[in-house]
Amino acid sequence: MVGLVEELKGWAQESRQRLTALQFAPQLEHIGRVLQVGDGVAMVAGLARARLDELLIFEGGVRGLAVDLGEDTIGCILLGDTARIPAGSIVRGTGEVARVPAGEGLLGRVVDALGKPLDGKGAIEDMLFAPVEQAAPVIVDRALVTKPLATGLLVIDAMIPLGRGQRELIIGDRETGKTAIAVDTIINQKSSDAICVYAAIGQKASSVARVIDAVRQYGAPERCIFVIGEADAPPGLQWLAPYSGCTMAEYFMTRGHDVLLVLDDLTKHAAAYRQVSLLLRRPPGREAYPGDIFYIHSRLLERAAKMAPERGGGSLTALPIAETQAGNISAYIPTNLISITDGQIYLDPRLFYEDQKPAVDVGKSVSRVGGKTQAPVLKALSESLRLEYAQFLELEVFTRFGTMVDERTRKVIEHGQRIRAVLGQRQYAPLSLGEEVALLCAVADGVLDPVPLDRMNKFRENLATWLAERCPEILALGDEANPLPDAVRTRLKQSLIALAQSVGGRVSQEGAR
Ligand SMILES: Nc1ncnc2c1ncn2[C@@H]1O[C@H](COP(=O)(O)OP(=O)(O)OP(=O)(O)O)[C@@H](O)[C@H]1O
Ligand SMILES: [Mg+2]
Repeated sequence: MVGLVEELKGWAQESRQRLTALQFAPQLEHIGRVLQVGDGVAMVAGLARARLDELLIFEGGVRGLAVDLGEDTIGCILLGDTARIPAGSIVRGTGEVARVPAGEGLLGRVVDALGKPLDGKGAIEDMLFAPVEQAAPVIVDRALVTKPLATGLLVIDAMIPLGRGQRELIIGDRETGKTAIAVDTIINQKSSDAICVYAAIGQKASSVARVIDAVRQYGAPERCIFVIGEADAPPGLQWLAPYSGCTMAEYFMTRGHDVLLVLDDLTKHAAAYRQVSLLLRRPPGREAYPGDIFYIHSRLLERAAKMAPERGGGSLTALPIAETQAGNISAYIPTNLISITDGQIYLDPRLFYEDQKPAVDVGKSVSRVGGKTQAPVLKALSESLRLEYAQFLELEVFTRFGTMVDERTRKVIEHGQRIRAVLGQRQYAPLSLGEEVALLCAVADGVLDPVPLDRMNKFRENLATWLAERCPEILALGDEANPLPDAVRTRLKQSLIALAQSVGGRVSQEGAR
């Protein structure tokens, strides 16, 4: 009996302590009501204190962003299923901007624009929440772009080189291999230490699945994050996906890593934004896009940077993709993006149909900062390549009409055809720097000229093993490698000639130039 009394006393004391510790105070909540809802947007009344881009929570847990602040009403982009929100229901203001998970735990994962896992591998651990909109690094925190970002695609690495921290637009008509270039670049990072973030915006589920499969099969998926805003996702999520991807990439950049961010593609992003803006009755501008479309894209791409050493020295390279209609690069969104980025890789549908893949139009493509970062050994070999190739393309047009050509012209054309064959590349087979150097040497030294065009593939296939046996030092070349000394170059040339002979080229050791 005594024991029970003691126990009750203890319990009473504990409860009293707990009650005194409780704080009863009114809690202020900003609430409003849904006036209208549908097609991924909602109009809300009553949230007088809401701020621009504030995260709002609707009944049923659907989130939305306040993007249009009127005097009496607020226009919201919904980041979830509209069907779950009845008109007249309550909306709560959070006083915060939208945040997404960022951190090591995301590596290797597939998530939606809000960072929710889509790959069925359970909750994401080891992460923090970072705002989707962040100010771009200021100039004093930035450094010059000095390190190359190898794509493993010879046509790009040799002629339109990319640097870490650069923004390069991949632009072309539909189905011309835009995504393929970005995916090959991601796959090539298997042999570097870069972290890759792929943000899919308005893409078909099947193409997204193909990208993920390719990276899982050929690349380093444990260093990749996939942020997916599919074509059938609410437009709000499609709109948010590139910002979320950028925030996830920034996490690693600020910690000193090199990050590659692919935005596939910003034309669809602009279309999703136009859709919600028109539904919110914002005044349409050119091509019915809202007036701030340039601003939102430049604000996003400005976040790509190379950080100064005292800020960790990380970098964020952005590869936005833009789709053109019938090759019209002077349409509104493509011109915007061309002017925001540091260069563009233009894909020509005509080249694609002629089976010249990657279908990069070298004449219209440019990289404004990457040239300074190119490995010196590659730079030395590719200087004359662009000119030789351009001359060949021009000559080829004339000879198409069956014009008789003299011996010299015929040689230029045959040489040009070898350059073109070397610039073509199949998917998922990125080249190492050493292979690129060897191929460019083979072109420059005329080793390939006597090799029949249909044997060129064989030459490429055997190249890596051949070099490993005969010129292993070429395969070990790094980004800082200087132009090849004469002795090495001669040895490389001899082994390339031997390879050309082995695949059926009638080339003598003296015959090559
Ligand atoms: N280098 C290549 N070699 C062989 N096939 C390629 C190459 N590059 C792309 N392809 C093929 O071309 C097709 C279109 O490529 P991709 O999906 O990358 O184009 P896209 O421009 O991104 O298309 P969309 O406009 O649908 O986004 C794909 O079937 C792809 O496998
Ligand atoms: Mg694509």
